[in-house]
Amino acid sequence: MTRLDLSGKKGVVFGVANARSIAWAISQELADAGAELAFTYQTERLLDSVKKAVTSLGDPCLVECDATEPGQVEAAYEKAVAALGKLDFVVHSIAYAERDDLGGDFSKTGIDGFRTALEVSAYTLIPITALAVPHMGEGGGSVVTLTFDASEKVYPGYNVMGTAKAALENAVRQLAAEFGPKAVRVNAVSAGPLPTLAARSIPGFNEMRRSHAARAPIGRNITHTEVADAAVFLLSDLSSGITGHVLPVDGGYGIMGI
Ligand SMILES: NC(=O)c1ccc[n+]([C@@H]2O[C@H](COP(=O)([O-])OP(=O)(O)OC[C@H]3O[C@@H](n4cnc5c(N)ncnc54)[C@H](O)[C@@H]3O)[C@@H](O)[C@H]2O)c1
Repeated sequence: MTRLDLSGKKGVVFGVANARSIAWAISQELADAGAELAFTYQTERLLDSVKKAVTSLGDPCLVECDATEPGQVEAAYEKAVAALGKLDFVVHSIAYAERDDLGGDFSKTGIDGFRTALEVSAYTLIPITALAVPHMGEGGGSVVTLTFDASEKVYPGYNVMGTAKAALENAVRQLAAEFGPKAVRVNAVSAGPLPTLAARSIPGFNEMRRSHAARAPIGRNITHTEVADAAVFLLSDLSSGITGHVLPVDGGYGIMGI
């Protein structure tokens, strides 16, 4: 259902891996609202599944971009802007940790795994935001990233990814403060657990789903669409007074003590 008119708005989406990706749920709503999109994909290996996911949009601009590789984010924006003409928004929906660093004792996290998780899942928001700003023009724009409650609370198994999400949320605030004067807003949606490729590698993920359904005031798990709704709101002018914040889409799970 289209609730917003985003015709004329253009944006880049980082993080579609397949049709179950949160980034794809957000993209569908953006496209339904009339926005024009370009997509990055992490590696050649994902190209087929990304193409398959985005096929309903016709032939959108697809650009390979490993966000941790020097120069690739900049090059991706150049190609995307050549196709779109300008940028109004960016979706950062990227995270990764080595399997060995998910589950087990957090205290055993090695420095390489720590660096990888923090680099991919938190650091990449910095160049992805900063390098978008020059393409946004005087009207500014909006950047949305995806985070999880493990930034503040302990979810056994989520381990170093919780540390990465804490860093990501801090980066949201610092980027919002820096780019606010340029009318660029930066916010995060904190999503409840959703079955995706990335979620499958988190030990205890099914338990997280069960716990959310049992304890959240809405009495069920949240959906991809509900997360996309919140992201699209933050990407649109309806949220023009909101920046630097984390919006939970968790069915109220986070307010419960027991
Ligand atoms: N699924 C959940 O339960 C849940 C809950 C809260 C937050 N999130 C967050 O949502 C975001 C999207 O995850 P998802 O659940 O849709 O899973 P997903 O696997 O569909 O998406 C993760 C994306 O990150 C990309 N990525 C990883 N390393 C990259 C790199 N170096 N360069 C560029 N891209 C890279 C992958 O290619 C993939 O497209 C992540 O930040 C995740 O932590 C997910």
